[in-house]
Amino acid sequence: MTFGLLEPPLADPLLALMARFRADTRLRKIDLGVGVYRDARGATPVFAAVKAAERQLLRDQDTKAYLGVEGDLEMVNLLGAEALNRPRLPGLQTVGGTGALRLAAELLATTRTRRRIWLGMPTWPNHVPIFTAAGLAVATVDLCDGATRTPRPAALLEALRRAAPGDAVLLHACCHNPTGIDPEPGFWDELAAVIVARELVPLVDMAYQGLGCGWSEDGAGVEQLVDTVPTLLVAYSCDKNFGLYRERVGALFVAGAEHGAASDLVAGSEHGHTDVLLRHLTHLARANYSMPPDHGAAVVRTILADAALTVLWRAELDAMRKRIALLRRTLAAYGRIGAIDLASLAGGHGMFAMLPLSPPQIDALEREHGIYLAQSGRINIAGLPESMTRVIDALGAVQRQHAA
Ligand code: LMR
Repeated sequence: MTFGLLEPPLADPLLALMARFRADTRLRKIDLGVGVYRDARGATPVFAAVKAAERQLLRDQDTKAYLGVEGDLEMVNLLGAEALNRPRLPGLQTVGGTGALRLAAELLATTRTRRRIWLGMPTWPNHVPIFTAAGLAVATVDLCDGATRTPRPAALLEALRRAAPGDAVLLHACCHNPTGIDPEPGFWDELAAVIVARELVPLVDMAYQGLGCGWSEDGAGVEQLVDTVPTLLVAYSCDKNFGLYRERVGALFVAGAEHGAASDLVAGSEHGHTDVLLRHLTHLARANYSMPPDHGAAVVRTILADAALTVLWRAELDAMRKRIALLRRTLAAYGRIGAIDLASLAGGHGMFAMLPLSPPQIDALEREHGIYLAQSGRINIAGLPESMTRVIDALGAVQRQHAA
């Protein structure tokens, strides 16, 4: 039998966690696992701006004919202008931020002789599978200091000074997943200098803009790179900041000092450096999914093309950001619970934080208390209930009862 000896692959831990949570019938279960925004009722609502855009689309859309391999280029243009202050930033629509990362990784693996990418660890657990599946070798750098395991973003800079010319490096734009600890001011200046000196290619994962310190603040580091490094790939996700998770809306931008505004791909009027990269990307996309889906991108375009909808969407996003920040401060105010220094979480941004829990303690939280979190100890702050006593008590209990 052709597939007779095939063993199943290891399950993706986060997807497995989501399935266990769904199957758990306990009424008081708490989901601190997957990174989706939750409101005070634990729901992940559709933005009012999205609903309004969908009503417009339902009324006005008169065809479902193909958009083309590069997707909705008007959405890409509007998003580049909104996110990074660059109108007509060259790029194409992708199948979510993951699709953008995969396409970028394939570009790096198929068009260059240097096929290595540096990753600061811990990172989003899907980064390594995406890059290795595309054919890149992964070099890792431990971002956490000694015994305290405090994340130190500058550790990546130190490692990159040893990188070989042509190596790529994965960067988190803001709201680091999973630690929540973003670099200090000054980091991006130093990073740009190292990238230029070592001739590195940065690939930025930008999935949480607007959920950390504020919209422009969250984009500022990447904007700095756009001005200073020759070429920069930005994998952008609209999952969280438009609440469009299941619609899979993303974009891959080709930016940097060597790349100006977008050329006209369809007319093929330019054959500059940017145009060649974009043509490779469309070629890779065509051989993969052919063309991206339309609906979510059309929603983003409709919002960004309409001043009133943009104001409404940004207000909703800002309210989410403030709620997450308040939950973070509330959690941090509990100070120390056994070996866990909750106070230090106050310095983080965005949805995620890491708790120094052992696998048996994490298993016990799930089994004995119905509290679900990733095996890395990452929690989704937005999933915390406003009254945190149950979570705090459970953290104390598992530390007393189960070995660290
Ligand atoms: C997460 O990190 O929880 C999200 O990005 C969801 C995912 O696909 O892993």
